[in-house]
Amino acid sequence: MADGAKVRTVAEVMTKDVLTASSSEPLSKASARMIERGVGSVVVVDPGAPVGILTERDLVRAGAAGADLSTAKVADWMTPNANTVSPDIEMLAAFDSLTAHGYRHFPVVDDGHLVGIVSIRDMLKLAQVLRVEHPGMIEAKRGLEGVVVAETEVGDVRGQEGFYHYRQYNAVELAEKRTLEDVWHLLYEGELPSVGEREAFAAEIRSLREIPPTVKELLPAIATAGEHFVPLDALRSAYSLLAYALDFRSWLDIDAAARRANAMQTSAVMPTLIMALYRLNQGLDPIDPHPELPYAANYLYMLTGEVPEPGHARAIEQYLISTTDHGFNSSTFTARVITSTGADVGSAVVGAIGALSGPLHGGAPSRALDMLDAIGTPDKAEEWIRNSVEKGERIMGFGHRIYKTDDPRSLMLRGVAERLGGDMVDFAKKVERTVVDVLAELKPGRNLYANVEFYAGVVMDKVGLPRTLFTPTFTSSRVIGWTAHILEQAADNRLIRPSAHYAGPPPPVPVPDA
Ligand code: ACO
Repeated sequence: MADGAKVRTVAEVMTKDVLTASSSEPLSKASARMIERGVGSVVVVDPGAPVGILTERDLVRAGAAGADLSTAKVADWMTPNANTVSPDIEMLAAFDSLTAHGYRHFPVVDDGHLVGIVSIRDMLKLAQVLRVEHPGMIEAKRGLEGVVVAETEVGDVRGQEGFYHYRQYNAVELAEKRTLEDVWHLLYEGELPSVGEREAFAAEIRSLREIPPTVKELLPAIATAGEHFVPLDALRSAYSLLAYALDFRSWLDIDAAARRANAMQTSAVMPTLIMALYRLNQGLDPIDPHPELPYAANYLYMLTGEVPEPGHARAIEQYLISTTDHGFNSSTFTARVITSTGADVGSAVVGAIGALSGPLHGGAPSRALDMLDAIGTPDKAEEWIRNSVEKGERIMGFGHRIYKTDDPRSLMLRGVAERLGGDMVDFAKKVERTVVDVLAELKPGRNLYANVEFYAGVVMDKVGLPRTLFTPTFTSSRVIGWTAHILEQAADNRLIRPSAHYAGPPPPVPVPDA
């Protein structure tokens, strides 16, 4: 924060009118008051002094466990002995404590009495005030953790609650009830399609799946250029060629309809490029898209030339839907940064593919399966994992910047994997339990659980995708999210250009003569 910024206390930003509940009342009553007031938590007081906090997340847990909300007591589901702060503590100290504990709210207690509640939202209000009063710098945490950098209507992730959404819909529910094309329409057009819109949208996608001839003829060179074939690197190169060949231009020089056309073409052709490159590298001819098949079934069809069984097509479709978008993740942020400079849709997508390729982001699902192979049998799981963590290694497919509880995508994909069934799924479940237990013991307080990548690998393997295609497959769905964000950024742009804190030797040092 800027030097010289006035020290502010919790008392200045806390909400004084706190919603409270007693520990003996039923959950249904407390939750009704939360809904009425539009707040995400209630402080539990018995009597006068706080004894715990009940959040939306606790209500979700209670619901999931089958608790009867009209009889279950607040005391049974609240977080007891919630951390509190005093009103005269410095704002920054409260903020650090909130984020360090992964909390969203602190009850404010003065002399044993509850006098208010302070939340992350209150702190952000303060940050805005400071920005106006002090045009100096606001120093962000390393990795930009917890920093809000833009407004979006595409979707969001609520890490503490284990919930994410596309537009106003729960993304997991969309994956359970809708097709990928419907979700794509939702992200681009802002709403789920009507029956007529669905047909028109599917027809538009079908017309854009083919690889333009000038690009197609150069693909064999890309697919065989490197000594080691890395499908995602080949895809990055081929897509870059396509954007160039199709003359994608700075979005500042084209209208909104032309930007959308670039975005549609990008998302529609990506699966065809992936499979064509893979087959060419294998010495096989690419398979043209199937005119009758929807997106997900066509994806698997272009790998083998056989219409996939419906269970496999649906499994991969659910995976694709669940990974279409995910807040301001690194690759989406990259796409928006590049777009903010006025660069064309192609440049933004190439940059995003680069960001996704890293193992800390999208490059993990094949590594998660490699780990299952390395462990070999269930009885070796604990020893293997313990050794790895003790050596300081990361367990691939576990941990997340935003989720400090179960990743909802991992829960959904575990269900998909269970439906597909088989020994490998049972083994993966055993390894998941062991990793969570070992990490809880060796990395206490870090809240590490399986992320989307762990079961993604299992599901993709079960439907017959080779491991080298895992990250490209992730790309084929995430590109829909990237392009939705690119269109949003272009519609209301400001150059994204942060600053850095210089930490080298103090300048200016005289330049030595050569
Ligand atoms: N295995 C072992 N320890 C872990 C893991 C893991 N998978 N993830 C985090 N930790 C530990 C770290 O060692 C660190 O411990 P320390 O406090 O002793 O130093 C602590 O937890 C916090 O880790 P950070 O790196 O600060 O967490 P960050 O939010 O920066 O990283 C990330 C998130 C990159 C996903 C991390 O959990 C990780 O490396 N996971 C493995 C790779 C992976 O699964 N990537 C796919 C992510 S999902 C996606 O992007 C689609």
